[in-house]
Amino acid sequence: MKAISLSRYLIEEQRAKGKIPADLRLLVEVVARACKSISVAVNKGALGGVLGNVGTVNVQGEAQKKLDVLSNEILLEANEWGGHLAAIASEEMDDPHPIPHRYPKGEYLLVFDPLDGSSNIDVNVAVGTIFSVLRCPDGVTEPEPEHFLQPGTRQVAAGYCIYGPSTILVLTVGDGTVVFTLDRELGSFMLTQDSVRIPEDTQEFAINASNARHWDAPVKRYVDECLAGKTGPRGKDFNMRWVASMVADVHRILTRGGIFMYPVDAKCRDKGGRLRLMYEANPMAFIIEQAGGAATTGHQRIMDVQPLGLHQRISVILGSKHEVERVALYFREN
Ligand code: F6P
Ligand code: MN
Repeated sequence: MKAISLSRYLIEEQRAKGKIPADLRLLVEVVARACKSISVAVNKGALGGVLGNVGTVNVQGEAQKKLDVLSNEILLEANEWGGHLAAIASEEMDDPHPIPHRYPKGEYLLVFDPLDGSSNIDVNVAVGTIFSVLRCPDGVTEPEPEHFLQPGTRQVAAGYCIYGPSTILVLTVGDGTVVFTLDRELGSFMLTQDSVRIPEDTQEFAINASNARHWDAPVKRYVDECLAGKTGPRGKDFNMRWVASMVADVHRILTRGGIFMYPVDAKCRDKGGRLRLMYEANPMAFIIEQAGGAATTGHQRIMDVQPLGLHQRISVILGSKHEVERVALYFREN
């Protein structure tokens, strides 16, 4: 395979298909650069004094880790001066971050979960950054939260960077899903997989089984059938995996298939679900669909949901197409 850097991929994609205008390329490259800095911080761990909590709670009511705060700052600082953004929203901030007046403004809105799976940081398990890019509505110069409230189908790009044994950037600009691996010596993300395809069938599921008593009937039916294995209605054995970092669970599914579920259940129904629509569900749904998979709430395609709030939570079922369709069928039959 010839060595293709992220920059070269973005330039050639624009040349061949007109998918990535210069400002969007700059945006993706800046996010990727910020992810390299986050990767360095994550990698240093205790040596960098970055483990543990800061003692504050974010808008989601979750204890903030030092690395949550640091990753958020790295992404903000990297992105505010380039002239490519109109505003930034983050899982770690109550309100959108405006672009300071001393810098020019661009036409995009950037939304991110700076460090997903951060409960895993202190135990040295993979974490990641998830991001989504929207267009700022025409004529809006001072974006308010409502301007971010666009369904996932309006995303122009989405990606995640996973900080695992390798640092890997997964990206879609609506023309398939591609994978880059960070070459630390070169300091560049290099293309390592073009047009990812998720197998349509799978024998692996991911769900936090400690919530089983709270699940709705269709989820319980699906998982029970998986657990019944060869002699059950599915006629095959299933394997179960749960990393508890959405990036890591989704990355496994992208690599070898599977289904990931964080459905709304009796425990989190009042909040609408566990995962965030804008920062987690939509970007992951875009990436998964572009790789031939599917993503639903159980009742509706995730990317068709009209967001009602920046920090809205939602039910998430995504991965191998036939399995996701099966769960959606169980919801319809319920
Ligand atoms: O961001 C939320 C998150 O950390 C996801 O990365 C992960 O999938 C999920 O929460 C883990 O939830 P639980 O703690 O219930 O296993
Ligand atoms: Mn998260």
